[in-house]
Amino acid sequence: MKLAIPKERRAGEARVAASPDSVKKLIGLGFQVTVEAGAGAGAAVPDEAFQAAGATIAPDAAAALADADVVLKVQRPLGAGEGADELEGMKRGAVLIGMLAPYAAREQLRAYADAGITAFALELVPRITRAQSMDVLSSQANLAGYRAVLDAAHEFGRAFPMMMTAAGTVPPARVFIMGVGVAGLQAIATAKRLGAVVSATDVRPATKEQVESLGGTFVAVMDEEFQQAQTAGGYAKEMSDEYKKKQAALVAETIKKQDIVICTALIPGRKAPVLVSEDMVKTMKPGSVIVDLAVEQGGNCPLSELGKIVKKYGVTIVGHANVPSRIAVDASALYARNLVNFITPLVDKETKALKIDTNDEVVKGSLLTHDGKIVHPSFAAA
Ligand code: NAI
Repeated sequence: MKLAIPKERRAGEARVAASPDSVKKLIGLGFQVTVEAGAGAGAAVPDEAFQAAGATIAPDAAAALADADVVLKVQRPLGAGEGADELEGMKRGAVLIGMLAPYAAREQLRAYADAGITAFALELVPRITRAQSMDVLSSQANLAGYRAVLDAAHEFGRAFPMMMTAAGTVPPARVFIMGVGVAGLQAIATAKRLGAVVSATDVRPATKEQVESLGGTFVAVMDEEFQQAQTAGGYAKEMSDEYKKKQAALVAETIKKQDIVICTALIPGRKAPVLVSEDMVKTMKPGSVIVDLAVEQGGNCPLSELGKIVKKYGVTIVGHANVPSRIAVDASALYARNLVNFITPLVDKETKALKIDTNDEVVKGSLLTHDGKIVHPSFAAA
């Protein structure tokens, strides 16, 4: 079985879907691994390192993809009309695995089906215990949460920790984290390690204890609706207008006193909730920094701009796109590990051939197209 790792072609993507360690593991599973030349450059993995792990280096994408039974990607392939059509080089029946963003790119599912590609979207892998080691949302969000704090520190003209010096005392920075999922928890931990005074908010009651266990102060309207705000799947619900109003009032009071606000609040499949209004930004101290990690889903702050750092009312608002790519070495290594963990159960140990069990919960949750058809229940009617 041949497995290919092409270079990522989307603008601003530095990650790669393999590491030397994952290549060794894939070879152990029975794959012949081909990596496109330069694929690891953005993640500090030279071709020689892939070669030393046992991979063959192909000079270009066409050579890497020719005959590949499995193609591993970070982001979805470029389609027709996006410059190079990356699907063109793939053979019928090939298996494509990556973060294929099916909600954002529904129309591409038809192209996968028409090209006879069996496509898996890793972000749809159900968050069940067995699949934790395959969870790309967690592996990437964790690093994004860390990086968001460092991006804030970089833009901030002051220090994070309190410093008592002969020349005077530097007060600690006050950091407020909005949304305490995987990214938010890592942001709290990172800001604490840097010495900031940290508070955080979320609408899920389970997060109160998590924030406190990391040494942060929990800020939220803890009424009856809040007690019910977590879905069975562990995600946030859209809150009522009345709750949002109360929450906004509390947030407005809190935000005035902050130096840094890190926004990570998301509701799966919806636009990100607006939590930091323009009026709230106006009340922040000059020199404060907002990092909006939700910017790709519309942003928690309406003033943030995708891919830009802007200054409004004296506040720097950071809207970097694709934050995991800003820490591409670790993001690639963890993503590559997620991929190995995902593909391992798809390989028959005896025959060393792919055996896709469409009744398996993980397969069912993530398989978009198969045998020329869109098979995922959320998209089949599209
Ligand atoms: P996410 O990226 O969907 O959202 C980030 C955070 O924003 C969430 O904590 C959410 O509650 C919060 N949020 C939404 N609306 C908000 C509002 N109006 N105000 C304030 N906060 C708001 O979440 P993520 O990081 O994917 O994690 C979601 C849950 O899944 C967590 O409970 C996490 O522990 C759980 N999880 C479970 C895993 C497993 O069992 N395998 C793996 C990873 C996460």
